[in-house]
This record gives sequence, structure tokens and C-alpha cells, in this order.
Amino acid sequence: MTHSQNAELERQAAESSVAGPDNRLRITLMVNGDRREVEIEPRVSLLDALRERLHLTGTKKGCDQGACGACTVLVNGERILSCLALAIQYTGQEITTVEGLALDGSLSPLQQAFITHDGFQCGYCTSGQLCSAVGMMREFDDGVPSAVTADVASGTIDFSDTEIKERMSGNLCRCGAYVGICDAIREAHSEVHSEVHHAGESR
Ligand code: FES
Ligand code: FES
Repeated sequence: MTHSQNAELERQAAESSVAGPDNRLRITLMVNGDRREVEIEPRVSLLDALRERLHLTGTKKGCDQGACGACTVLVNGERILSCLALAIQYTGQEITTVEGLALDGSLSPLQQAFITHDGFQCGYCTSGQLCSAVGMMREFDDGVPSAVTADVASGTIDFSDTEIKERMSGNLCRCGAYVGICDAIREAHSEVHSEVHHAGESR
């Protein structure tokens, strides 16, 4: 976390106030670029705050115990399981849910690729898969190795299906759409990288 994020967090914490007899606190969450005020008990998970208080129901509750990945959201660009997180811990931090992935009202390349490759069936796991894939691609591009990275010292990691499967292994799909999910992530990653490459060439 940066110094300015820390300062914002401290400011938000100072602003929090006890709001009722059941010890609810009024906190501010930054969700998909918007400041959202909520009154919650300190024990409320980020998942429940998003779904039940802010009515952002794209984020799904599967197991509610950290085993399925359906509740994955991004905090400051990193993926977390919102069912295992207390909302109050995330005041002032940049939270992105599936509702915030579209770009200016258009589907992101990853969302479009999920449609193109049939990366879902019932769709219950899909928002978690999408958020997890965004965070995973960032980890990959930052050179963070996984359990299946053969040479962690080489500095280059092949964006292989083995890497994708390992890095997405925390997101379960009961419909078994894994082949389409893998294809979609591979295509979106290569599309984004070829755009970056072409932008570099045209400079
Ligand atoms: S609902 Fe959070 S991991 Fe399953
Ligand atoms: S699409 Fe149904 S659980 Fe994944």
C-alpha cells in the first residue's frame, strides 16, 4: 500500500463513527470508482457489504468459507476472496467488482472472450473467474512465479495452459466450463499484449 493510500485509510478510519445501538459503523468504501457509504457491524464480510448493503449482486456467494472463488474481487488490483475479508478492513481502498470491469460501457476483452469461447454455462462462478483472471494476469505480468513455474530465476514465464490452470485453481466451476475459461484467458492475454506491442511499435 502506498503512503497516500495509508493516509486515506487513516482518514477514513477517523471518520468512521458508531451509528447505532448494535455497534454499527459508518464507513466509506471505494467501489468501482465511486465513494459508497455503508453502515455495518464490524463483523460484516466485504462480500455481504457488497451484495446486501450496496446491492452489487454480481459478486457471488458460493461456499462462504474460502473454497470456491465465486466471491473474488480486486482490491488495489489484487484478487482477494471477499467472503474471508471484513469490509471494515478495506475503507479507502480501491475495490473492483465484476460490475466495474467493463470499459466505458463496453465489455472488456476478457469478458468478450468468455462469451466467444463459451467460458460459462450457468454463470454463477463467472464473476469470480473474471476478477480472478484480471488479478492473475497482472501477477503473471509482474513476474510472480506459481507452483508450476519451472525456473523461477529465469525472469520470463511462459503463459502456458499449465500456468493458467494452476493460477486459476482457486476458482471452481460446477458446470465444468474450464476449457472455455482457459481459452478465453489465453486469448484476452494475447490480445492485450499484442495491443501493447503494436502501441510500442507505432511510437
Ligand atoms: S464464497 Fe468465497 S470462496 Fe466461496
Ligand atoms: S458456469 Fe456454472 S459454475 Fe461455472
